[in-house]
Amino acid sequence: MQTQIKTITAESIAEAKNLIFSGGVVAIPTETVYGLGGNAFDDQAVQKIFEVKGRPNDNPLIAHVHSDYDLSKIIDYDPPYAKKLREAFLPGPLTLVYPSTGKVSKYVSCGLNTLAIRVPAHEGAQALLRALDIPMVAPSANLSKHVSPTSAEHVYDDFEGKIPLILDGGACEGGIESTVCDVTGDIPVILRPGLITREMIAKVVGACGEYTPDFQSGEKVKSPGVLYKHYSPRCQTRLFTANELERAVAECVKEKLAGKRVAALCEEQFVMLFEQSGVETLNLGRTESEMAARLYELLRKAEKVCDVLITIEPTEKSGVMVGVLNRLRKACTSSDIKH
Ligand code: TXA
Ligand code: MG
Repeated sequence: MQTQIKTITAESIAEAKNLIFSGGVVAIPTETVYGLGGNAFDDQAVQKIFEVKGRPNDNPLIAHVHSDYDLSKIIDYDPPYAKKLREAFLPGPLTLVYPSTGKVSKYVSCGLNTLAIRVPAHEGAQALLRALDIPMVAPSANLSKHVSPTSAEHVYDDFEGKIPLILDGGACEGGIESTVCDVTGDIPVILRPGLITREMIAKVVGACGEYTPDFQSGEKVKSPGVLYKHYSPRCQTRLFTANELERAVAECVKEKLAGKRVAALCEEQFVMLFEQSGVETLNLGRTESEMAARLYELLRKAEKVCDVLITIEPTEKSGVMVGVLNRLRKACTSSDIKH
């Protein structure tokens, strides 16, 4: 199969629509990362997405809809605080998890009794969703465990020859995936941190919890995606805190002397320190939005230019950085299943 990359026009949207209604899978831009879209009502299309990504079959997908889609077609329980969150943040990088009604393919939720729904803000994604006027499932358009894609080229690198079409909407502004927030209980609970922060949600509805799975207890995990190794560049990775900078520099120098290609991924304030020691750097930037937007781009660059990537955790740990750190730590984990 030949994989075409096309800019977003009325013609490419029509082509994507035809492909999706005939059971195909198409890559689409969103404001967070690129997604691999398919018809949420079509069992075979949904299964094809799992297959093409190599995704474990217990990790559910998010259904994407346009901003005027009538949600009562696919859910029936909708607490007032969820409506407030939609009004405040959608379209945008917030996914809400509702009790499911079994209207979409059973393969979407992987046996959970909930359905995750997202209204992306990206104009190209909205245009396609409007043309479809049905929910479209769309996991991030990367091979399972690999770094999420923030450009059409990233998608091409993972899926050349495996999907027919990539809609090119430019580089993703957000850079990390949407916040996933459970709205089945009395208060919203964040299952995956992202660009819409716990503080932002609490400000709108008064309270917001954060779910941390207790792996020891054997409890059924609410958001299975949190269990898996994720976002990993194909090079060795080592993670240091900002308190361990000296050791991190020494590690870089040692690896270089051993003939390895090494780079340090760090926020701007530490760049000079590594460069003074002759170490290449990948500069995450200064602000939280810069760091979120650059993270995956730099992790994908790292695997092309390094044997060993030394990463320094950013010093700011709150707000959007909760999500950035969550991704960075998973990218640098060595275990294959749990983190
Ligand atoms: O920004 C995004 O959300 C991107 C773009 C393409 O929209 N999509 C994305 O999808 O990140 P994916 O499949 O890579 O991640 C979906 C996450 C996983 O951690 C999954 O476990 C969780 O959402 N999830 C999906 N359905 C769920 C549900 N019913 N209950 C709890 N978690 C769910
Ligand atoms: Mg993903």
